Amino acid sequence: MSFFGACMNPIQSLLVALPPETAHNLAMSALSSARHLPGKVTPLAGKQSTFLGKSLRNRIGLAAGLDKNAEAVLGLARCGFGFVEVGTVTPLAQPGNPKPRMFRLPEHGALINRMGFNNHGMHTMARRLSAVRESGRLNGTLLGVNLGKNKDTPNDQAVSDYVKGMDCLHTYADYFTINLSSPNTPGLRALQHGQALHTLLSKVKEQQLALAGSSTPVPLMLKVAPDLDQAEVGQIAEQVIACEFDGLIATNTTVARDAVAGHQHAAEQGGLSGAPLAQRSVEVVRQFRRELPEQVAIVGVGGISSAEDARTMLDAGAQALQIYTSFIYQGTNLVRNLVESTIEP
Ligand SMILES: Cc1cc2nc3c(=O)[nH]c(=O)nc-3n(C[C@H](O)[C@H](O)[C@H](O)COP(=O)(O)O)c2cc1C
Repeated sequence: MSFFGACMNPIQSLLVALPPETAHNLAMSALSSARHLPGKVTPLAGKQSTFLGKSLRNRIGLAAGLDKNAEAVLGLARCGFGFVEVGTVTPLAQPGNPKPRMFRLPEHGALINRMGFNNHGMHTMARRLSAVRESGRLNGTLLGVNLGKNKDTPNDQAVSDYVKGMDCLHTYADYFTINLSSPNTPGLRALQHGQALHTLLSKVKEQQLALAGSSTPVPLMLKVAPDLDQAEVGQIAEQVIACEFDGLIATNTTVARDAVAGHQHAAEQGGLSGAPLAQRSVEVVRQFRRELPEQVAIVGVGGISSAEDARTMLDAGAQALQIYTSFIYQGTNLVRNLVESTIEP
């Protein structure tokens, strides 16, 4: 596994020899140490656009889940991303699922994970983001905060966890992502449907406006699963419009395994990410783009690992893109490639 790209092959070899989560923790420590490097951190120059009412320097973002605790925001920003999403964070710290809970499928350019929202809790994240903001060193990289609910919070009280996250973190976030699509928190995806979705999104919207008072509200994004049928896409789009959300992030990992059938890890529980997800994520983005008005932004994520994938996702209707699994396998060189290849049009 490499967050560093081809220029650091000995480190890459070491990381690949280690169990995935150990490699992840080592790489995160290195990225976290990058905060000691001096100077401001600026995104790579790419296609400049207005995104959620703010200036976005390039269209390539880091997806949620890599920096669950906002430990390496400056180091990750240094990789050149236009936006970095931290979390998923929950109100209380929680350990997540027992290990092993992350599996490599390098032959497929894929991962399976069932991390289960392991994180240090919202107060710890607030301290770290406060330090990042106070340092004044983030020079144009937008910062998204991805919110979840604690495993022990029942679904009928889930909204209170999202509201607590907003209360605690709204001064630091350029946008919030309401994550209802992790397959690794039992029952979470049920909140994507019917009355439960309406209740949750409308209360979150109410809280957004209450927190903003007379200032500009922190934009709200909804992150959805790829495992939705056409009717479900239509129903979710209706609620996104009715509750005046600013955007949608499509997609999270999939529970489908057809694309990796026969692999030794294919039967592991959890969400599959990376190349096998690409086609499905593009399809979901295309479906939502048809249903949503233009002012609702769509971030395309799922299996983007080349300039061609990025182009396909933009053509399907995404305004901006995120990567996770391909960044793990290809490192920082990929960020530069994607930024450069998405400058036009
Ligand atoms: C190990 C791992 C942990 C993840 N954790 C989160 C998370 O905490 N919150 C979230 O919204 N998405 C999480 N994701 C999903 C990614 O943000 C992304 O939506 C998904 O992996 C598809 O993109 P990719 O194919 O580029 O990896 C995680 C993905 C991986 C591989």
